[in-house]
Amino acid sequence: MWKGRFQKETSGLVQRYGESISYDWRLYRHDIRGSIAHATALEAAGIITKKELREITRGLHEIQNEIEGGQFQFKVSLEDIHMNIESTLTEKIGAAGAKLHTARSRNDQVALDVRMYCRDEIRQILSLIAQLQEALVMVADANPGAVVPGYTHLQRGQPVLFAHHLLAYVEMLERDAGRLRDAFVRLNVMPLGSGALAGSTIVLDRKLVAEQLDFPAVTQNSMDAVSDRDFIAEILFALALTGTHLSRLSEDIILWASAEFAFVELSDAHTTGSSLMPQKKNPDVAELTRGKTGRLYGNLMSLLTTLKGLPMTYNRDLQEDKEPLFDSIDTAKMALQVFAEMVAAMRVRADKTGAAAQDAFLLATDIADYLVLKGIPFRQAHEIVGKLTAESLERGVAFPDFTLEEFRQHAAVFEEDVHSLFDLERALKARRATGAPSPANVARQIKRWKRHLETLSIP
Ligand code: ARG
Repeated sequence: MWKGRFQKETSGLVQRYGESISYDWRLYRHDIRGSIAHATALEAAGIITKKELREITRGLHEIQNEIEGGQFQFKVSLEDIHMNIESTLTEKIGAAGAKLHTARSRNDQVALDVRMYCRDEIRQILSLIAQLQEALVMVADANPGAVVPGYTHLQRGQPVLFAHHLLAYVEMLERDAGRLRDAFVRLNVMPLGSGALAGSTIVLDRKLVAEQLDFPAVTQNSMDAVSDRDFIAEILFALALTGTHLSRLSEDIILWASAEFAFVELSDAHTTGSSLMPQKKNPDVAELTRGKTGRLYGNLMSLLTTLKGLPMTYNRDLQEDKEPLFDSIDTAKMALQVFAEMVAAMRVRADKTGAAAQDAFLLATDIADYLVLKGIPFRQAHEIVGKLTAESLERGVAFPDFTLEEFRQHAAVFEEDVHSLFDLERALKARRATGAPSPANVARQIKRWKRHLETLSIP
């Protein structure tokens, strides 16, 4: 491609060191689509004839078919997907092919291809996020009666519905989707026409190109356009945080599936056995996902480090953007898919969650609130219930088995109705502020999510 100035072939070692075709081949569809749009602009500007445009288009379609049919010979000597396609096109159609790269550089070409690739992938990831949300909502909906201790510090705190716990993850995933939608808007700007860094003396209709490629706008600074990888960093961050959420869900599922909790049973299809211990059923999917979150973080860090300190404009360092991007996208997509499947098939053991939720200490705060309603300042009520707790632990008697007299020894305001506190249904119903886990609220949230997921629109 640049043989004019050079007297020696690129060393084989350098070819292998610098090639990106082994991974950027996956941009072929976007590269071809971008090239056809570019050729259209070349024709509109009178650089190529209508006939040449037709030849280019036909040649590129042929190449696409060959790639998809597995017949295309990718050459490491041609470095990347852009030069592999362009060179094959010229082999196929001759002179017209050699005109395609007029007023274009691989710098604006790769910026275009990656943006189009990211648009497609964000669309897919948004729908995968929605599928996992649907699975979580479905399990929540199917287990309306499952009560579970809510934890802080992994210590039992207050009772919640298991559905409420699941819906917390639906919220997290919704924010993840929101971040990807934001990134989509910012990256949806067309960079072709920026050339190597300063546009071209051959001026093409950039709006025409943008329209053909469904971009609502064109980039406004050619130097920025060829060196900007912010959109990749944004996606990598969004996926890293999605990884955080999946990793936390993983940890919950690993705990829940343990004999100590036994809140859920995972399907055989989503667990593995032990090669040594015959009784084992291991939550490997969750563990792998927790583990793979490391590479999602690593990919973000890798790109940020690559970008830091680069002089303007394009530098070959930027080729290092693709492997982290592709890896995070592949990893996140697989994790979302396998999680949707695993969660949908997970059996909730309402008997076990219910037994754990029988712990009367979960209602300690309710006793304090009761005292507040009888006129005792909260700080004082807190101390009273603290002392009741100490007594309960010392005597080995649970709150519901305290007599009214025994309650009264701690505060005179206790009345007969104190015993009505120890009813989980009442305790849950009482938590009816917006966002709190009363059964009516949770049912409303399930309905809201179902409606939201049914009417989901993908950009
Ligand atoms: N494979 C290159 C990349 O991914 C394409 C751009 C190459 N541009 C250049 N001036 N060498 O970044």
